[in-house]
Parts: sequence; structure tokens; C-alpha cells
Amino acid sequence: MSRRILVTSALPYANGSIHLGHLVEYIQTDIWVRFQRARGHEVYYVCADDAHGTAIMLKAEDRGITPEDLIAEVSAEHQRDFADFHIAFDQYHSTHSPENRHYAELIYRRNRDKGHIDTASVRQFYDPERQLFLADRFIKGECPSCHAKDQYGDSCEQCGATYSPTDLIQPYSTISGATPILRDSDHYFFRLPDFREMLESWTRGGHLQQEVSNKLDEWFEAGLNPWDISRDAPYFGFAIPDTTDKYFYVWLDAPIGYMASFDALCQRTGMNFSDWWSPESHAELYHFIGKDIVYFHALFWPAMLHGADFRLPNGVFAHGFLTVNGTKMSKSRGTFIKARTYLDHLNPEALRYYFAAKLSDRVEDIDLNLEDFIARVNSDLVGKIVNIASRCAGFLFKGFNNQLIAVQHPLVDSLMQAGTAIADSYEERQFSRAIRDIMALADRVNQWLDQEKPWSLAKVDPLNPHIQEVCSISLECYRQLITYLAPVIPKLAQASADFLNIGDLSWDARMTPLGNHTLNPFKPLFQRIDPKQIEAILESSRESLNTPLETTTPPKSTHTAVSDAATLDLIDIDTFRKLDLRVGTIKTAEHVKGADKLLRLMVDLGEENPRQIFAGIRQAYDQPETLVGLSVVVVANLAPRTMKFGVSEGMVLAAGPGGKDIFLIHPDHGALPGMKVQ
Ligand code: MSP
Ligand code: ZN
Repeated sequence: MSRRILVTSALPYANGSIHLGHLVEYIQTDIWVRFQRARGHEVYYVCADDAHGTAIMLKAEDRGITPEDLIAEVSAEHQRDFADFHIAFDQYHSTHSPENRHYAELIYRRNRDKGHIDTASVRQFYDPERQLFLADRFIKGECPSCHAKDQYGDSCEQCGATYSPTDLIQPYSTISGATPILRDSDHYFFRLPDFREMLESWTRGGHLQQEVSNKLDEWFEAGLNPWDISRDAPYFGFAIPDTTDKYFYVWLDAPIGYMASFDALCQRTGMNFSDWWSPESHAELYHFIGKDIVYFHALFWPAMLHGADFRLPNGVFAHGFLTVNGTKMSKSRGTFIKARTYLDHLNPEALRYYFAAKLSDRVEDIDLNLEDFIARVNSDLVGKIVNIASRCAGFLFKGFNNQLIAVQHPLVDSLMQAGTAIADSYEERQFSRAIRDIMALADRVNQWLDQEKPWSLAKVDPLNPHIQEVCSISLECYRQLITYLAPVIPKLAQASADFLNIGDLSWDARMTPLGNHTLNPFKPLFQRIDPKQIEAILESSRESLNTPLETTTPPKSTHTAVSDAATLDLIDIDTFRKLDLRVGTIKTAEHVKGADKLLRLMVDLGEENPRQIFAGIRQAYDQPETLVGLSVVVVANLAPRTMKFGVSEGMVLAAGPGGKDIFLIHPDHGALPGMKVQ
């Protein structure tokens, strides 16, 4: 039975570029959408730029353009990036649109008229120079707990303490530098607790992943609070109806952007909006989101919809965050990779394939390991999939006029039958399972080809009819594989369909055998990834630093006089090379409350920010001030370690038996922060 399905991805903020982290989500959603289309369902995939808020207003101001100009520019860039990654939206809209204003006002009014909106006075920091109220992230000051300077208004990056901005010592506005003053203002609140019962039953009704509903149970237990949905002028957004200087908080109208985008699609195509959004609708609605925005989508959003007499989503699917080589994307390591930088060097389908091979229905983070990425794409897509077509194409061209003959073979039957389980995996968003099964099928086809050896037969007689039979069976199998992979690698699938001379890659079409059939000339289908391309991506993503953080030449080996080598655990030179030793300059050094062995050091390694390192050297350097300005040797690639006092981001090397007899190892003067230790 054909289903009607509306799918969304979260709306990217209109103040920055799309990066590989975002793409986890858009690729995941696009694969699911393409799969549903291939199954013959009526599917629409909508998205938009999230265009409102203070950050966008200030960014436009910085650049001396209007917010409208800024969001138009960013929207064009986003849409180019998405199109080049083959993300096939049916509609890409903006939250700064007449449709969104309409639905934001409607949803607000309906909730208000039912008594779900309150007002209350809120005391908040205000920037007297720039004349605006300051959100927590626009206030910095000294941490009340560890006294680190320049900490944000909600939490300390040094010691992890959380507090309210009014607790900061010597607070200042990050916008103007002025000392903020406290001011009262009336705010509008959405009475989330009114919806507690409805939400408790909805969130346990099979619309969420298990991990997410567990999280929600915790939130219910902690208690729901009214949600502040207003911001004071100046603000880039929609004015709240019947007010003059109050605006909807960006997160109020952001999810409404899903409706606005769909409405724009309806206007374009003549579909009926309320068939999809009324509580009686039989259409299905799914939101794909990242784990960081679950609260908005699993609590506020269903409550707002319910209060305004709209339907609720059938599912909210959260994914985890992207790490690169096991750690957070980092500008200094060059792993904060923009969509465009990737596209300048590599085929988007390589990334689509890799993400698919990693994605499941869980909220777990997913890692892009660059070595594994190269290996996997080259061995699977090129070595296993495309290989089948390229191995057969030449023989059919040379000996058989590009003609396939009708064949029957158990291998073909088993590949056709495997489609049911693979479809279930896609449906359940178990993409990694689907890919594993598809690659196992490809292995079987390649093994069978290895047994049949058409190349040996062709050496004796290129016209031996058995060659044509073997290649016809292989290419029928290839068609099955390509159909299964098409949601993941649509362009490679299309190029393969062109070669096979078939028009339809739908799930059902694959069941009708190709039979006696003519192929089109074969063209190369996919390029292997060259590690140099990855290096080039990292190189162009790395933010320029005073001294290069990574060099491509490995450090020279150092011959050290080790008298008792026999008693040591020996390591080989390659293990040694893994150590990234750098010169660092100690910027600050201080005692750590509650730790009598530790000092907290802030060490400049020539990167964007100094690193915090906890060193067990307090007994030797009880007057930490004396260390300031000293250059030391640091293990720069030690994995960050979370300690009770904060995260330690490296290790400072010292010599000596311990206790009071510890001597920091420091290089000759002249060494600059970030230099490699050779
Ligand atoms: N504008 C809001 C969403 C509003 S939806 C009504 C927003 N924008 S965002 O640009 O920050 O993120 C867009 C989506 O990308 C979110 O679902 C977010 O979780 C996801 N990701 C952003 N960075 C990510 C990673 N590093 N890894 C995986 N997903 C990430 O949030
Ligand atoms: Zn602190």
C-alpha cells in the first residue's frame, strides 16, 4: 500500500557554512527519503534555513549589510552545498518568510486563546552601550568558582562549573565590552506544564528511540518549566502579535519552519496543506534531528502543535554527533571540514557511502576515521561493486556486441530475495546493516566470477557463449546491488543504470529480469580515493597558525644514552613517532583547590587558544608564578582527559624521581610555541 510521507531535517542556522557534521543528518535523511521513493511511496522532503536570532542580526551588522541580504547569501550557499551532495529536497525555504510568519502567529494565537501563554517580568543583563539584552553567551567574566578569566555567562570552560551570568565576577558584554547592567522586562511564556499528560503519553507512544524516551523520563521527573518564548527589540525575527517591541524567540518559529516550507511546496504544486497537518491526517510526519535539539522537538514542538490543533509527528529520529579520527572536529587539526572544501577534492558519494556504512537507528556519535574512510570506499565501492561491471563490460563489448542473454541462476534468485531484508533495514534506519548485507552479496558475486573465470575462457576463445552467460548473470546481479545502493549513491547508481540501459531503479523493477538486452558503452564509474586528496582537504581546512602544528616529515630519530636499556620496555621508532612533542610556553600557573600535587597550567602551543594542562608538579614548584613565561616540552597529542577539576589537554614532560625533585624539561631559548621537538 502506498504511503504519504513528509520528512524533514533540522533547519541549519543561516550564519555559517555547512560542514561534515551537519551532513551526517542531511545524508541520513536523504538516504531514507530516496529509499521510500524507490519503494513507490508519495514522499516529500522539506527543509529551510533557520534565519532568525541575535547572532544573525549581529553578524549582518558586523558586515555592514542587512540581515535579509546576509540570509539570502547564506541560503544560496547552503543550497549549492546540499545540491552538490545530492540532497534532494522538494522544498528549501526560510523561516524568514510570509508562510512562517503566518503559522507562527497562528500557533501562538491559538495557544494564547486557550490560556497557554503567560507573561512575567524577567531581570536580565543589558548592554547599555549597544542597547540590547544579552543572552548568556554574549556575556563573559571571571568564573566565580575557579577565577578563570573570560568565561561565558552560563558555564566555565576551565572548571566546568555552571552558574547564572549574574554570578560572574566583573562581567562584560562580548558585543561592546561594556559592563552590563541589570534590567527588568516583561517576557512571554509558553506553559509547557499544561501539556505534561499529553507529552508523557506521546513520548512513550513509540514515536521516539528508546534512549531518547529514557532521557525524557528524566526530564519529566525533574519537572517541566514554562518556556520563555519572547525576546526584546532589537531582534531579527517576527513581532509577537499585539505587542510592539517583543519578538518570538528564534526557537519558537524555527520548527514552524517545517510547516512553512511544506506550505510553500503546496502553493507550488497545488497540494492541500491540511491533508497533511490536521489532526485527522493519514499522512506520516517524521523529523530527523541531532541529539542536541531533542528537547525542542520532543517537548516544545509537540506541545505547541497540540495546543494549536495540529497533528503530531509520527517519529522524531535523533542521531549522534560526528567526530573525525576519534575526536571533536578541530580547526587546528584541519578536521573542521566544510562541505565545500570536501567537494573541492572528493566525490560526495564517498562520504554518503561511509556515513551509511556507519549509521544506525541509535543516538550514538559516529566517527569519520580518515584512513578507514579511504580503505572502505576503495575496497567496497570500487573493489567490490564497480569491479563487477568493469570486469564484465569488456568481454561483452568485444565478443558479443554489448548483448545480454536471458539467464536463470540461483545466484540471481538469492540476490533478488535479499531485497526484503535490506528494505527492512533501510526502513528501520539500520543503514550499516543494509550496507553490510549488500557488501556480503557483492562478495558472493565476485567469488562466483573468480570461479567462472571469463577472462581465462576469453583468452582461448573470446566468442565462447559461456562468457556471455557468465557476464549476463553477473550484470543481473550488479543491477540488484545497484538498486539496493541507489538511495546511498544515487549518481553512481544512475551512471550504472545508463550503462545497463535501464530507466527504472525502483525496488519493484529489479524483479523483472533484463532478459535479452543491449547495454550502452561502458564508462569508468568511480575513482579510487587517493590519500593525497585527504591531505589536501586537511590542509585547506587547517586554520593558519603562526607555526605549523603538523609537519609531514617525521621527527628525526634521537639517540639517547640509555644505560639500563635491558630493563626498559622497548618501543620501535614508529611508536616513538606517534608522540607529538611540542614546545609550549606557560602562560599562567596556579594551585588547584583540593589537589595538593597538581598545578593548573595554561600552555601556549601556538594554537588558537592556550591549552589547560594539569601537572603533578606542585611539590616541586609550590610558587607557580615562577613558571610563567617558561618554555616546556609538551606531549601535544595525548588524548584529553577529564579530571575532577576540568579537562587536561596534554602532558608536560619533566624529569626526576618525583615529589620535590621534579625538573621541567625545557628547551633552549629561541624555541617558539608550537615548534616540534626533534
Ligand atoms: N537551527 C537549529 C535547528 C532548528 S530545527 C527547527 C540548529 N541548527 S544547526 O545548524 O546548529 O544544526 C543543524 C543540524 O545539524 C542539527 O540537527 C544538529 O544536531 C546537526 N549538527 C550540527 N553539528 C553536528 C555535528 N558535528 N555532528 C552531527 N550533527 C550535527 O540546531
Ligand atoms: Zn571556573
